[in-house]
Amino acid sequence: MNKADTSSFTVVIAIDGPAASGKSTVARALAARLGYRFLNSGDLYRAITWNCLSQDVDCRNVGAVASAVGNSHVEIGCDGTDYYPVVDGADPRAHLREQVVNANVSPVSAVPAVRYILSAAIRVHAQGRQTVVEGRDIGSAVFPETPYKFYIDAPAQVRQRRRRDQGQTEEIAKRDFIDSTRSTDPLTIAPGATVIDTSTLDVEGVVAAMVEKICAQGLVFDRTRR
Ligand code: C5P
Repeated sequence: MNKADTSSFTVVIAIDGPAASGKSTVARALAARLGYRFLNSGDLYRAITWNCLSQDVDCRNVGAVASAVGNSHVEIGCDGTDYYPVVDGADPRAHLREQVVNANVSPVSAVPAVRYILSAAIRVHAQGRQTVVEGRDIGSAVFPETPYKFYIDAPAQVRQRRRRDQGQTEEIAKRDFIDSTRSTDPLTIAPGATVIDTSTLDVEGVVAAMVEKICAQGLVFDRTRR
């Protein structure tokens, strides 16, 4: 494969996986290593959920959620190297990991209008840039054309223990079930994705495996970055 200078092209490294698989941590570390942007798409879905809850929208009512998201304005703000959701001018970051958001984010994310609007915002954000994007459908639906796809996983009990160690009581299996069985853009291993089990690897080990893979695929980047 020809080596390409990617400095002015769109390059997306897609990282998908279930809840608490460790993908945010490795995606952030990989982006820092490559000098790429990092986008946590789950935060966008959480922000829309928080916005619905703030307006007393019934998050189990598909029509009500679709109407609320259609009437809201979602942007991606920048804070130094951090990209974060802005909904109707508000910065919801302080609320994104609240229990009520955990409990409602998967039903909201299953609404096709929500996925349509957020997938479009993510594509615009990545256009002409080099970005590591993590989520559930990044390699399968948002950027199916990218050659750089990973699926990060760990056994369910390992992932549930990680959540407990973070002080969270959430039952992640419920979210995983809704996310992987919804009809629009479900969580799945994208064709061509490299699957990495994080249960026995530390962050450095996962990032090293990813760097090795994308280098073998011909991606050029500044190797002196740590
Ligand atoms: O990544 P995180 O666990 O914060 O994602 C929260 C939720 O957002 C997921 O459980 C899923 O319902 C939704 N999500 C999604 N598609 C994405 C990213 C997240 O449906 N690309």
